[in-house]
Amino acid sequence: MRTHYCTDVTEKNIGEKVTVAGWVNSRRDHGGIIFIDLRDKGGLVQLVADPQDCQEALNVAETVRDEFVLIATGTVRARGEGLENPNLVTGKIEIILDELVVENRSKPMPFDLGDEKVNEEIRLKNRFLELRTQRSYDIFKLRSTANIAIRNCLNEMEFLDVETPILTKSTPEGARDYLVPSRVHGGEFYALPQSPQLFKQLLMVSGFDKYFQIAKCFRDEDLRADRQPEFTQIDVEMSFCDQEDVIKVAEKLIYDTFTACGKENIPTSFKRMTYNEAMEMYGSDKPDLRFDMPMVDVIDIFANSTNEIFSEIAKDKAHNRIKAIKCPNGDNLFSKRQMKGFEDYVRKFGAKGLGYFQMKEDGLKGPLTKFFSESDLEEIVKVTELEVGDVVFFGAGHKKVVWDYMGRFRLYLAEQMDIVPADTFEFLWVVDFPMFEVEDGKVKALHHPFTMPKDLNKENIEEIESIAYDLVLNGTELGGGSIRIHKEHIQNEVFNLMGISEEEAQDKFGFLLDALQFGAPPHGGFAMGLDRMIMLLAGTDSIRDVIAFPKTQKAQCLMTKAPSVVDTEQLKELSLRIRKTEQ
Ligand code: AMO
Repeated sequence: MRTHYCTDVTEKNIGEKVTVAGWVNSRRDHGGIIFIDLRDKGGLVQLVADPQDCQEALNVAETVRDEFVLIATGTVRARGEGLENPNLVTGKIEIILDELVVENRSKPMPFDLGDEKVNEEIRLKNRFLELRTQRSYDIFKLRSTANIAIRNCLNEMEFLDVETPILTKSTPEGARDYLVPSRVHGGEFYALPQSPQLFKQLLMVSGFDKYFQIAKCFRDEDLRADRQPEFTQIDVEMSFCDQEDVIKVAEKLIYDTFTACGKENIPTSFKRMTYNEAMEMYGSDKPDLRFDMPMVDVIDIFANSTNEIFSEIAKDKAHNRIKAIKCPNGDNLFSKRQMKGFEDYVRKFGAKGLGYFQMKEDGLKGPLTKFFSESDLEEIVKVTELEVGDVVFFGAGHKKVVWDYMGRFRLYLAEQMDIVPADTFEFLWVVDFPMFEVEDGKVKALHHPFTMPKDLNKENIEEIESIAYDLVLNGTELGGGSIRIHKEHIQNEVFNLMGISEEEAQDKFGFLLDALQFGAPPHGGFAMGLDRMIMLLAGTDSIRDVIAFPKTQKAQCLMTKAPSVVDTEQLKELSLRIRKTEQ
């Protein structure tokens, strides 16, 4: 149909006859001569309908409106002097029409494609139109490039691409399952996979040695800017490996993919930090290392203070923390009112308050200084490395609460200070995760219960470490994995510590426990969030931008109107009845 894509027509084609096809991006009538910007996947080219060249083409051009689909034939010529558009690849030429066919008309657009501020509901209802924008096309081209690089890289390393079931049984990854009712087995349900975790482990028992899959996963959980109910993982598993072997594969995968996507200077191995270091220094298991500002421990200095609240907190060093964050030049950057705003911010996350000192020419100042001796004030200056003009903030309380709000405050402060560099990639492995966490008296696996613990014989269950690692990029959890339990008795012991009875374990994971009895090799792996990876590569802050047909924060597809009611006949076939409850 066409001889060229719009953006392939350049100065080298001057004098040639070409046919291009696409959508009307805009149309301008300049007193009898009509200019049309025609758009296809790559960009724009200018068409000119001039009665001197072809009256018929002009007649058609007069009927044309935005987003009509055109097939246009004409001769390429250089634009007149001063009429060139340096912003377009095709900005030096135009096509003088001698035939113009309207292949299809378009209703007026429900929103202006060029307006990025249009409300998201309208954009998602008409997602197929939003995808017409150059920005969207570029994102999906990037995603496609990344996909191919991932496949090539893993194929080169002899990983086998295996598809695992979508209609399956629940896998515990910490979210609720999406359930699918069975018609044949009335009253019974499949679960959509939260990840292919158990199947990939079984493939290792089968002797496949190296597996990968670009896998769809489904999780019914609270949605955020980087979470979707249906998302994609790059899922990898390998046998006879230790943590170092797995990390090497993941690093090569990242290097190859990011490089294929045009990113430069990607490191071939990444920094590492233990979970404990990450929590103590950054208050998060996914620290953003694009800027520093670590939290410094000052509990020993505060233990000497005459302020009862601080000295009381400082007595229990096992459970409490007093942490300081230095804000360079903060005294000059922030007003008293802004400092008060910082306190309001941390209170939202459980802080009782936010103390601070200002570093003046003649030493530390602030309402709290009266509780400290001169030497302790000097010690604070020393450990936090304060210089004149700096401010240092303090958080005190239970360690989990302090880590959380001071960690968030660090990020908030950096944003206010505008010190987070754009276009940098700071990768980090967080290793040595605890195996369990205890919440409301319930023991839960921090990663998942198939993770290999280092040593189960610890009195305090929260001190048991696991061979688990997370890959963090710019403060986002990009992926995670672990060495798995390949011995049945250890798996049973872990279930036991989690309060999962033998019966329940058999019912839920009997097939895994069976497999572990038939020569399961040592194995491990990881999964990376492909959508999150593309978000970071594309530099966007919403996961919805990188998924062709995403769901809203309320897990709805506004375009297809899913989820939706189904007719009673269908429900009957599935042995289901809807019970209406009062909202
Ligand atoms: P995990 O649950 O950490 O591990 O998931 C791996 C990665 O998947 C991405 N991810 C998500 N992306 C978008 N929306 C979501 N709702 C969502 N949930 C997770 C994240 C995350 O780091 N089976 C294990 C992996 C393993 O042990 O091999 C697993 O699924 O980027």
